[in-house]
Parts: sequence; structure tokens; C-alpha cells
Amino acid sequence: MAKLIATDLDSFTLPMEYFLDQMPSEVRDQCTGLFNDKKDLFAKEKGSKRNHQAWGGGYGDHIVECLNIVTYLYAHLSAVRTLPFLLEEALFVMYVHDLEKLYPDQVDNYEQNTGCTSKKAKKIVRESLYAQFGFSDYLERNDHIRIALDTVEGENDLYSPNRRIMNELGALCHCADTLSSRVWYAFPKTPSIPTTPTPDPRAPQPPVEGIETINGVHRQYFG
Ligand SMILES: [Fe+2]
Repeated sequence: MAKLIATDLDSFTLPMEYFLDQMPSEVRDQCTGLFNDKKDLFAKEKGSKRNHQAWGGGYGDHIVECLNIVTYLYAHLSAVRTLPFLLEEALFVMYVHDLEKLYPDQVDNYEQNTGCTSKKAKKIVRESLYAQFGFSDYLERNDHIRIALDTVEGENDLYSPNRRIMNELGALCHCADTLSSRVWYAFPKTPSIPTTPTPDPRAPQPPVEGIETINGVHRQYFG
């Protein structure tokens, strides 16, 4: 019997930095710039309000999980039958499919101000972020990626009994998203993106040098 060897791929522990290097060359700089500029939000925002990765930093955890899972699925499935799209395209879809979750207040405000559904507010904010971070031209040139993004959470209202709406790329990404959000909704157990602690300027600072007396107890500090 073949011996199974756990690799980073098999254990879903490949880090965000690895995936950023694998993104399509046309949008690699934009993907990396987004992460570098908003790393604090990846490490702070939730994956969802309640249903999956619903903790601070769960957003980054969900995205890294999706990237690992889709890479795993692609590697194993394409070894059996050819998949009609590139892994880098699936990575891009996973990377930006929930982008509005970086800005939950924008979604809530839009929903309250317009009275539209939560789903519509999410889509409007997500589209504006695609433009803001430089992805719109790429999506216009690649219709199959646009379709995958529109159906990554299922065909829903787009469903037709007469023709398939979700394409192959969308279907694999839908599987990866569902595995992360409905099977392994409480994973990973340790944060995927470590937080960079921000010093609190209001925190009392110990004296650099001198003697401090609190309740009659003296402490001497040396510079
Ligand atoms: Fe998702």
C-alpha cells in the first residue's frame, strides 16, 4: 500500500504569500497590492456574521482556506480528467469572491440607505471594490471569470432549465467555497494571517529612567 505523505498542499497550510505569487500575471500586482494595503483588514474582519469563520480575522482565514482547497481539488481532479481552465484563474476567483467582506459597514450602510436586499448591497460594494483595486478591465476581458464570480455561491436567481449558467470554473470554485463555509466552517484553528499588534497610544508608558512610587512602593528604572 502506498505510503501517504502529508504535504503543505494536503494539509491546507500554504500561506497567502504563496498564492499571491500564483495569481494570473495580468492582475498579480493588483492582488499583491490589495493584500499589502489591507492586510490589517484581512486579519481583522469576519468570514461571515454567524455562519462560517465568524471570528475576527475569519475573512483572511476563509480566503486562505478557499485558496488551499481549490488548489487541492484542482491538483487531484485534473490528474484524473482535464479541467478546461487554469488553476491561476480559480485562485483569482477565490481571492476576490468575497471582497465586500473587508468593508462590512459599507454593505450595511448601502443596504440601509437604499432599502435593497443584503445580497444586492454586497454585489454593489464588491463591484466598486473590483474597480477600486484595478480588477475591472481583467474581468471585462475574461467573461468566463466574470461568470464564475457571478455563480460562485450558486446559480440562484440566474438558474435556467434550458442552459447551464454556472461554468466549469464557477463550479469548482463553488465546491471550494462550500467546503470552507459549510464543512470546515470552524477551520483553521490558528490564524492564517498573523496580526501586527498596533501600539495603543493611550496605554500608560513605563518611565524610561527614574524612580516610580505607587502606593508607597518604589520601582527604579534604568535607561
Ligand atoms: Fe466565500
